[in-house]
Amino acid sequence: MKGKWNIDADHLMSRIETLAGFSDAPKPAVTRVLYTEQDLAARTWIKALFDSSGMTVTEDALGNTFARLEGDDPEAPAVATGSHIDAIPHSGRYDGTVGVLGAIEAVRAIQAAGLRLRRAIEIVLFTAEEPTRYGIGCLGSRAMSGILTPDMIRALRDEDDGTVEDARLRCGFTGPLESVRLERGQYHGFIELHIEQGPRLETTGTMIGNVTAIAAPATLHVTVSGEGGHAGAVLMRERHDALVAGAELAQAVEAAARQSGASDTVATVGIFDIHPRAVNSIPDRVSLTVDVRDIDGQRRDDTADRIRAAATDIGARRGVSIEVSTLNTDPPATCGPVVRDAIAQAAAELGHSCTDLVSRAYHDTLFMAEICPVGMIFVPCRRGVSHRPDEYSSPGQIKAGVEVLASTLVKLASQ
Ligand code: GLV
Ligand code: MN
Ligand code: MN
Repeated sequence: MKGKWNIDADHLMSRIETLAGFSDAPKPAVTRVLYTEQDLAARTWIKALFDSSGMTVTEDALGNTFARLEGDDPEAPAVATGSHIDAIPHSGRYDGTVGVLGAIEAVRAIQAAGLRLRRAIEIVLFTAEEPTRYGIGCLGSRAMSGILTPDMIRALRDEDDGTVEDARLRCGFTGPLESVRLERGQYHGFIELHIEQGPRLETTGTMIGNVTAIAAPATLHVTVSGEGGHAGAVLMRERHDALVAGAELAQAVEAAARQSGASDTVATVGIFDIHPRAVNSIPDRVSLTVDVRDIDGQRRDDTADRIRAAATDIGARRGVSIEVSTLNTDPPATCGPVVRDAIAQAAAELGHSCTDLVSRAYHDTLFMAEICPVGMIFVPCRRGVSHRPDEYSSPGQIKAGVEVLASTLVKLASQ
């Protein structure tokens, strides 16, 4: 049944290219950070696409954007799909964008097929899936789920000490933060189309990944305070060097993940800032962020506990103070059978090979799982590469994902 949907892959690829042009990094890299000029320009461009699809567009107080195609039964909860368009510094053009632009193309194909569906379909453009600006991932969906409360949002700061509150108001997202939370059951189901960001589909020659579970991330923020001083004058035995203590902690992070014994446990120090950062000055303060993930929430928490214990030990041995604060510890999500079955059937009917797999990256779907049954459709990406400028999925792979998305939406919206 390949060819059931009339998906225009070339047009979709050219839209992905246009969206990549809204960027603060030179091509082929993409940098698009929340509430910057480029983010706002990209949103304006996408909203025009929603409008020209005849969908009704609304925005919430954080800029989460909803485009709705009405169904025949106004009482029936809608089926939702979508993803994000923010891009971490110096990354690629497919992460997130395929799920937004692909959803627009899927809705166009459904309209072109003249189908009338019982339920409405909503495309959601989530605000800031990436943690770049405020240190916390899935800002928009996390707030929709209620896990991030309005007071917690008000406490968030970027590295210039700016608040979400000031930034969102400046961008014209002026509604009350209390209105962002969605009701449980608001949607009949949620599906996100995304590149795999791992090599499994490519290496097994499989076109579609049907996600069963999403790994649970935790983020720790660590500040090491030691004693600064003159790089020539302070003898080695007198030093309390914050950088060397932090470096030892970074090694302990790697060891803590390896000690879990499970290949699903991973831990990363992605940010390491040094103060005062002068060639002839002993660092008096460093700050690190630690990202710990696992599909097993308890094992993830045990890994984080080993990291905290290592911090206490290193601090005592080196005579520095190490403070560890927890930014988030998120629950792992299990995808809903109703959505997974629809994806599996859709792939089979369309003649696309399909396999079950877990998502090691997090996605807005992690938080949509608090609201309704969820599923994710993965398509292969070259060598599994993501968060890099050379991230790539082919037109044929993206087309297959959009086809499966369109069929899945129709199945769920007909229930
Ligand atoms: C999302 O981009 C993640 O870091 O998993
Ligand atoms: Mn990403
Ligand atoms: Mn993503």
